[in-house]
Amino acid sequence: MKLPPGLVAELRSARALTVLTGAGISAESGLSTFRDAKSGLWSRFRPEELATPEAFRRDPALVWRWYSWRRAQVEHALPNAGHVALARMESRFERFALITQNVDGLHSAAGSREVIELHGSLRRFKCFAHGHPAALPADLGDGPPACALCGSLLRPDVVWFGEKLNEDALARAETATRCCDVFLSIGTSAMVHPAARLPVEALAAGAALIEVNRDPTPLTGRAAWSVRGSAGMALEAMLAALDG
Ligand code: OAD
Repeated sequence: MKLPPGLVAELRSARALTVLTGAGISAESGLSTFRDAKSGLWSRFRPEELATPEAFRRDPALVWRWYSWRRAQVEHALPNAGHVALARMESRFERFALITQNVDGLHSAAGSREVIELHGSLRRFKCFAHGHPAALPADLGDGPPACALCGSLLRPDVVWFGEKLNEDALARAETATRCCDVFLSIGTSAMVHPAARLPVEALAAGAALIEVNRDPTPLTGRAAWSVRGSAGMALEAMLAALDG
């Protein structure tokens, strides 16, 4: 993919790069996005039945099964060229921060050392009542197991609709957003807050915004450069430009 020379110059001169990723970067690993009209998870499933504390209270087994299905997909998925390019990019800047809305763990699997997981992880669990971190028992049944400490049901350690983000993760994301020269937003529809406000905060703090997305988003008009296309191809081209 050919990148605009101005974008390449901006990346090469940046000392601090902050990256925000969304479901689009994992689409090339075979994982569904959320808002794609045909294949997006929220076009096939109702979030209020599956991704809220009320849904879990109402039908814990249904919610548990849905997340077990998603976890199985993630466990079979491999990081793609985009994840790998981002992991390599880390050492090309004086300061580098990777913030993700994804819960699939593919950035870490690709070798990124520090990932700010704003929406948690499908690969971790905690109890519903107190948030005790927990490992899954070996003899896993169909429904959620009980917490060894308090007996309440285990749930995936992801952020559900109506829940607050982890304060420490959000604070680290905001610091990285305020302190960067270039903010790169990749494969996110930029619709879900507070993550969606980070690129706007970066702009307000004087950073240049680069967007990579297959489709236009609310950020597109505000980006200094908007790369329309595959996250994997764009990130490979950016890495090659940094190394070239
Ligand atoms: P969305 O599904 O809302 O957006 C994915 C974006 O990626 C869309 O703009 C697509 O056009 C774009 N896209 C798809 N394939 C791509 C590719 N190969 N290369 C580049 N871009 C591509 O997903 P998110 O923005 O991540 O939250 O959604 C944000 C949050 O909404 C999720 O973290 C999740 C969801 O509800 C929670 O579960 C809390």
